[in-house]
Amino acid sequence: MKKIFVLASVLILGFSCQNEDRAIEETNSKDLEVAHRGCASDEVLQKQLIADPGLAKRMQDIELQTAKAISEGRIVNGVLEIPVVFNVLYRTTAENISTAQLQSQIDVLNKDFNAQNSDYNTANNPYSSVRANVGIRFVLDQVIRKSTTKTSWGTNDAMKKTSTGGIAPTSPTTKLNYWVCTIGGGILGYAQFPGGSSATDGVAIDSKYTGTTGTATYPFNLGRTATHEVGHWMNLRHIWGDATCGSDLVSDTPTHNAANYGVPAVGHKSTCSGTPLEMYMNYMDYTDDRGMYMFSNGQKSRMLAIFNVGGSRASFR
Ligand code: ARG
Ligand code: ZN
Ligand code: CA
Repeated sequence: MKKIFVLASVLILGFSCQNEDRAIEETNSKDLEVAHRGCASDEVLQKQLIADPGLAKRMQDIELQTAKAISEGRIVNGVLEIPVVFNVLYRTTAENISTAQLQSQIDVLNKDFNAQNSDYNTANNPYSSVRANVGIRFVLDQVIRKSTTKTSWGTNDAMKKTSTGGIAPTSPTTKLNYWVCTIGGGILGYAQFPGGSSATDGVAIDSKYTGTTGTATYPFNLGRTATHEVGHWMNLRHIWGDATCGSDLVSDTPTHNAANYGVPAVGHKSTCSGTPLEMYMNYMDYTDDRGMYMFSNGQKSRMLAIFNVGGSRASFR
């Protein structure tokens, strides 16, 4: 649009200059047009650079930003790509899971966030019309491993601090840090929501519930704990709103009584107002891995919003 405007003003200026000696120039300019197309953008720019003392600096900043964006490659063909740093804290050799198992987790995230999971088209999904292709990709950036004597880490972020024997996050404003460690207390994993301290930002997930190979343990052996925790990290709440018939701040997900466990039967309804069918197949429920296979469009909008310019995770762009 701006280009068209500049071009139009150039043409108008050009015509007004031509008025007096049109007859003389007519043949010349015609010949020129055939020989090569003219574009005055650079001449216009040179004039603007002289008239506007701040322009050179603004254009230089644009070049720096362009070079940075290209070298970091965060938005690849319009798709946001999130580098993932795995911080593996192990006591036993079993806890020191293989890079192949970590890569299998990245593969699940890429499938689940891009509507490429094999169960995406599960039959009898009453919510198929609001299923979302979130369109965010993940890439394994690095793996940091550390041996420890701790049998469990709890949920007070000890795994994220060297002072408590953990591993400090790597570049948390541009990389998703994923601590692989035994949390204990029956907890599969937990995430920090947007807005928290960058020193503790990321997700922490048990090695037995990471990925789909190696030590991945049924019924949480399909990598959906990370899909769920990354959902929180991208500002999604539990689908039942963490209260009886609570709200998850998403309008296209139904009201649930409470968390669902196992794999609920098709047709399972809420007793909340309007008794809607529950969306137990949503990643933000507590359903077993094999029973969850979708985010909704409303959830997608909430997730993408934090990565917008001005959003709380805009630094990941
Ligand atoms: N934070 C939840 C927990 O620790 C994770 C639930 C993940 N659900 C799943 N099917 N993998 O219980
Ligand atoms: Zn959760
Ligand atoms: Ca809702």
